[in-house]
Amino acid sequence: MKSTPISRDLIDRTIEDFQIMDFSKATIREVKAIAAKAEKESGIEFIKMEMGVPGLPPSAVGVKAEIEALQKGIASLYPDINGLPELKKEASRFIKAFINVDVSPEGCVPVTGSMQGTFASFLTCCQCDPKKDTILFIDPGFPVQKQQVVVMGQKYETFDVYDYRGAKLRDKLESYLKKGNISAIIYSNPNNPSWICLKDEELRIIGELATKYDTIVLEDLAYFGMDFRQDFGKPFQPPYLPTVAHYTDYYVMLISGSKAFSYAGQRIGVSCISDKLYHRSYEGLTTRYGGGTFGTVFIHRVLYALSSGTSHSAQFAMAAMLKAANDGKYDFLSEVKVYGERARRLKEIFLKHGFYLVYDNDLGEPVADGFYFTIGYPGMSSGELVRELMYYGVSAISLVTTGSNQEGLRACTSFIQDHQYELLDERMALFAENHPVA
Ligand SMILES: Cc1ncc(COP(=O)(O)O)c(C=O)c1O
Repeated sequence: MKSTPISRDLIDRTIEDFQIMDFSKATIREVKAIAAKAEKESGIEFIKMEMGVPGLPPSAVGVKAEIEALQKGIASLYPDINGLPELKKEASRFIKAFINVDVSPEGCVPVTGSMQGTFASFLTCCQCDPKKDTILFIDPGFPVQKQQVVVMGQKYETFDVYDYRGAKLRDKLESYLKKGNISAIIYSNPNNPSWICLKDEELRIIGELATKYDTIVLEDLAYFGMDFRQDFGKPFQPPYLPTVAHYTDYYVMLISGSKAFSYAGQRIGVSCISDKLYHRSYEGLTTRYGGGTFGTVFIHRVLYALSSGTSHSAQFAMAAMLKAANDGKYDFLSEVKVYGERARRLKEIFLKHGFYLVYDNDLGEPVADGFYFTIGYPGMSSGELVRELMYYGVSAISLVTTGSNQEGLRACTSFIQDHQYELLDERMALFAENHPVA
């Protein structure tokens, strides 16, 4: 076997230093720290694909609006707990412009990133009905969301959607819902980590069953419109984003500034609560708070308790970005399309050297090229592959951590630099030579 770009000993020692027993379960932060340490000690560059952080400059529209707002002195004022009226209005318009769904400004609530949006949603959903104390994850998914459920002391159930695409989703989903304990269903679309996109027929199944079993749907749109197979970037024009909102009345759409607008650092998003859900009262909420509806509890009880609103200046930024997008003056998706181009080139290299895509299609259509993709190597488990690639100076996270039952890993395109394609090609050629497939 030819020697690897990074010495095996160095990686093994570093993993040992971190006291990680099972590398397939290493968190993103652990992989990042190990890669950084090995890079420093060896002096050899790593191709870093573990972090899901935007690798592009922040939206200039947002930065400008935020600076102007700060200069006007808004930093000294508590923001309105309901959210900046301008942001609420533009968020509602944004949903109409790009999804063709009506959600009133009242229900569009700024949050400190979608992370807070899901935390507040999980909490509120689990308080509606004491019998419904469990969140259902349509996995694979974003690991921190399960941590949120654990932190708040609630329960979750999960299944890997890999074997349940299309019509097969119905029975699988119903097998959970019919037990009567599911307060909310969550999935991301496009999906982190697999970049699958649930199709309209699948969203219909989710929506119909959610209605039948009176369950709330949390549609996580962190990668809003970033399915680059279609151009979702023209406001008030088809094609519109597919959504569960066409099939159920009780949902929250989670919109994030982080990826589509490269605005992760300011921690800003908008949780958009459907009109019917906003105005619905639940016995569990009435008992706990003495009144209120889902929407008012979400804002005036839960968000108030969590952070008393969202950073004032970031709300001005988000309002300006959404307004410019709605007015057709800012093609935000074209700014992030580069992730798709990177994914296309990276996948090509991996496939050339014997890797395969794990989640590779949406009901027969190849998955889109975007922020993430998933790869496996014949005969290797997730843990083996993720560790082995470290010897070649390539860092990624194992699918095990995402609730996937498949063997492989998630690669993120956001930090890839132009000179790294050639480097990856060379390293993966060596990998293939060292790991001949029978
Ligand atoms: C699926 C998913 N949801 C939510 C988030 C968090 O978004 P935010 O930065 O708005 O909290 C991420 C970030 O990686 C994500 O991948």
